[in-house]
Amino acid sequence: MNVFFKMLSAPTGKKALMAVSGGIWIGFLLVHLLGNLQILFGQDAMNQYAHFLQNLGSVKWIARSIFLISFILHVILAAILKFQNSSARPEGYTKHNTIRATLASRSMALSGLAILSFIIYHILHYTLGTVHSEYFGQLDSEGRHDVYFMVTESFKNPWITLAYITAILFVSLHLSHAFSSMFQTLGLNGPRTEALWKSTGYFLAAIVLFGYSAIPIAAIYGLI
Ligand code: HEM
Repeated sequence: MNVFFKMLSAPTGKKALMAVSGGIWIGFLLVHLLGNLQILFGQDAMNQYAHFLQNLGSVKWIARSIFLISFILHVILAAILKFQNSSARPEGYTKHNTIRATLASRSMALSGLAILSFIIYHILHYTLGTVHSEYFGQLDSEGRHDVYFMVTESFKNPWITLAYITAILFVSLHLSHAFSSMFQTLGLNGPRTEALWKSTGYFLAAIVLFGYSAIPIAAIYGLI
């Protein structure tokens, strides 16, 4: 615990905690995508998978707590570091150095805020059923929560699909920079690995973009 508070007080410690918490979320994104793609195999496969997750008991709550704590830590530390960076150079840059900065690296705060808003909306939509509640809470013929119906019917609404695809674009933009940045921060980057981490980051961002978008697109075209 002492080490944790020591890390929080130093800028490099804060960056390391951001990298680790972000890494936990990259893992979540890939596992969540694999799970969601069950929907392409039909109603039974999807509902069985969702039922399995719902019945994990304490494992589910431990995982949820880890993701929630990592997310809150990541957002708070990003805000603190952003604030400290801008107060360290209050006059601001007159000219941006765009030689190495990419669109993704320059828009990390914006894409991060978009992801934060999306996650709140997404949990209200699929986990709590507070928004678009007309699709929530139905049971299938086996008496399981009909997640297949909830997801496919939701995405037949073009506004919901548009909101999800916009959010997925931001997630993949954020990830395309975050992946290599994480290795850089943790000191696991060097001249020989720089290109590898960068291209792996772009590859993962493409998987997230095409994998997650495939679901609303398949639903809107009536393929699922
Ligand atoms: C096409 C895109 C997506 C679909 C169809 C989808 C589907 C779902 C569903 C059905 C649930 C509820 C699971 C349940 O309670 O049974 C869920 C929960 C969740 N999703 Fe997604 N998701 C998508 C994209 C994303 C993205 C891009 C993120 C992260 C940036 C994300 C983060 C979460 C989180 C944090 C939860 C809550 C997990 C929990 O209840 O413990 N999802 N998603």
